[in-house]
Amino acid sequence: MADQVLQDIKDRLNIADVIAGYIPIKKAGTSFKALCPFHHEKTPSMQISPQKQIWHCFGCGEGGDIFGFVMKYENLEFKDALKILADKAGVKLPQYKPQDKGAVDEKDLLLRINDFAARYYHEVLISSAAGKPALEYLKKRGMTDGTIKQWQIGYAPDNFHALEQALVKKGVGLNDLVKAGVSSKNERGQMYDRFRGRVTFPIYNYFGEAVGFSARILVDDGKSAKYVNSPETVIYNKSKILFGLNFAKEAIRKLDEAVLVEGQMDCISPHQSGFKNVVATSGTALTQQHLDQLGRLTKNLKFCFDSDTAGKAASRRAGEMALKQGFRIKIIVLKNAKDPDELLRSGPGLWEKAVKEAVWFLDYYIDLAESSFPTGSVEQKHYLSTDVVPFLGYISDPLEQDHYVRKISSKFLISEKVIREQIKKEKIGIAVKPEESGKTAVATGLLLEKEVLGGLLFEPGLFGKIKSEINLEDFENGEIRSLVEAIVRAGNVAVPGVKQAVVAKEAVFMVESQLDGLGGNTEALERELFKTFALLKISSIKKQQQSLQNDIKNAENLKDKEKIDFFNQKFAKISEQRIKFEEFL
Ligand code: CTP
Ligand code: MN
Repeated sequence: MADQVLQDIKDRLNIADVIAGYIPIKKAGTSFKALCPFHHEKTPSMQISPQKQIWHCFGCGEGGDIFGFVMKYENLEFKDALKILADKAGVKLPQYKPQDKGAVDEKDLLLRINDFAARYYHEVLISSAAGKPALEYLKKRGMTDGTIKQWQIGYAPDNFHALEQALVKKGVGLNDLVKAGVSSKNERGQMYDRFRGRVTFPIYNYFGEAVGFSARILVDDGKSAKYVNSPETVIYNKSKILFGLNFAKEAIRKLDEAVLVEGQMDCISPHQSGFKNVVATSGTALTQQHLDQLGRLTKNLKFCFDSDTAGKAASRRAGEMALKQGFRIKIIVLKNAKDPDELLRSGPGLWEKAVKEAVWFLDYYIDLAESSFPTGSVEQKHYLSTDVVPFLGYISDPLEQDHYVRKISSKFLISEKVIREQIKKEKIGIAVKPEESGKTAVATGLLLEKEVLGGLLFEPGLFGKIKSEINLEDFENGEIRSLVEAIVRAGNVAVPGVKQAVVAKEAVFMVESQLDGLGGNTEALERELFKTFALLKISSIKKQQQSLQNDIKNAENLKDKEKIDFFNQKFAKISEQRIKFEEFL
């Protein structure tokens, strides 16, 4: 996209108006303030500058221009945010290539068919005689009218052509019913409604459009499948859809935490009791695409899969994938209940307690090793080696990994060296740099770098205080690094040209607004800037630690004792530094 077009859109739209269309904002001097929608907070720490056309949150470090805001808020890709904003600004997108028109129309039609079906089944459930037993069934399971309405739960009549006839009356072709997944064709080419005599749960996409159904039998007869689901269609990709995400996304963002469960009922029940950050995998395995979507909302996951063997296996697989992506994971332990729905029915308080008491993913498996086997037995060691230690390899933070190595070593009396060897073996073939979490890390890192630059320019006194600790390698952004380098080389911040750089202007704005936020207290500002610098150092040291770990590993493979010692000493030295900076915080 030509920069000119982006600038055009920015010029025509006021960033304050755009953001005010999403959240309440308040004037503060020449800029605006708001409660940041991207993390939970009680006092506003988001700043918006109409002059500079940027926003920035001092709480969570997020920031950017209008495109970034809309992408993040609406969880959209850049091209979709661009479409929305171009539309708002009345700017025509020159390079906009219309997709295949037929394809767009088809998607739209399939969405409309599913939407019609959802409303049709819902009507049958709530206002027809045929729906009565189903309604009673749902009531018996504790479902309220409000919930039934919100999720458009319905009942598919026990009839091979009921929905089909209703849709044909609307002029929809039979083939499109099959494409939409609501009808099926047998070998003889005869059409029939896929869902019959079942309670229907519409499956919504991120935007709340019905893309398919999961339908439950009323009475388990031991022969029929408990749930019948829509097939994969042009609009329903099972590995992408998380059940309930359309209703849960706001809460996930606000609470900075998502709870993952297995079944529809396990998702709907907590929502009904006010726990709205819950989504379900609906019986399929958690996929990379699910994690990508969640990762844009939060990095904190709590798993609550069923307490049966299948649920436990699902939990392990999901955990492995999510750990590799840099998620922090806890396990919600179900006591005396088979699944979340059951627990909630015995009392919402029990669910709340279970969620609060969730244990760290690895601690869960360590506890399991402790409680399931005789202490020190071969079986226990075998379990640790196959089912616990491999997970350590997926933890990217070396200090956290170290914590678990020590914990396992001291609890089960296994030498740390053996554990580390095992991790090393397991790590082969694992992508070390997960794309998504890597991106977020870069974004936060960039903001820290920017803020330090802004601090130096705005508060020249800071330079003298941190001069000796500044290391150009701490700055990954080439532009910022070269500005800092110019300052370091000149020995003072008044270097011609530096303040004129766009990134420097943005950086100074961040610090200016921060000072506003602190009621003009320059001492407090200096403390904050110091903290920011410490955070930058810590993040830089973490990266060095990771690369040193690789060096150590390589040296170990080569049995190069001298190098091993050298790198280990270096590791110890920077770890000390890291602790020093961590104490500042
Ligand atoms: N499932 C499915 N097909 C089946 C059985 C299950 O698609 N034949 C999916 C459904 O999404 C279901 C989930 O797997 O919600 C979990 O299944 P299960 O634990 O057996 O059912 P529950 O969720 O406990 O359903 P309910 O409470 O209604 O009995
Ligand atoms: Mn259940």
